[in-house]
Amino acid sequence: MSRNPKSPGPISSGASPASIRDRSIVLVGLMGSGKSTIGRRLAQRLGMRFADADDEVERAADATISEIFERFGEAHFRDGERRVIARLLAGKPMVLATGGGAFINEETRALILKDSLCIWLDADIATLVERVGRRSHRPLLKNRDPGEVLRELAVIRNPIYAEAHLRVSSASTPHDHTVRDIMEALATWNN
Ligand code: S3P
Repeated sequence: MSRNPKSPGPISSGASPASIRDRSIVLVGLMGSGKSTIGRRLAQRLGMRFADADDEVERAADATISEIFERFGEAHFRDGERRVIARLLAGKPMVLATGGGAFINEETRALILKDSLCIWLDADIATLVERVGRRSHRPLLKNRDPGEVLRELAVIRNPIYAEAHLRVSSASTPHDHTVRDIMEALATWNN
């Protein structure tokens, strides 16, 4: 676990779960880092609502992400993603799992950094490849070797994910271990 020294420190030292629940917690990181599964369990532990930005984009567009990419292109998807995340963060605090590219978009990133406590779930490429291999719905991984794509994305995106307020390793250990590590990171989060 590590803390971004540049972050504003929105929660006081030894933050209690009550003060943690004052603002949304947003999970960012590459495809396969476990944002949705871990986010759902974290929300349960904290007694907060949970939302998955990808699901919300699909609901708003009445189309799957693959369909949106195919019919309108990635830029259109990113625009919808930004609007959906802005709407969710304007509401009551929640745990929000974002799609892997959301935090890379400058506007979306600024919004997340301003309105939430943001956690980068970081995992090694082998773990990510193993996890994304379980499903085949991701447009960026279609027709290409997932390991190659994820390695390329990691080089570009990891320095940007590093702007998150906290970084927690999402290793190949069970997701519950990661949830426990996040709870510890939240408890020791200070200014
Ligand atoms: C993407 C990640 C996906 C989804 C879309 C694009 C990305 O979400 O938003 O396929 O650019 O990394 P997950 O990270 O939940 O797979």
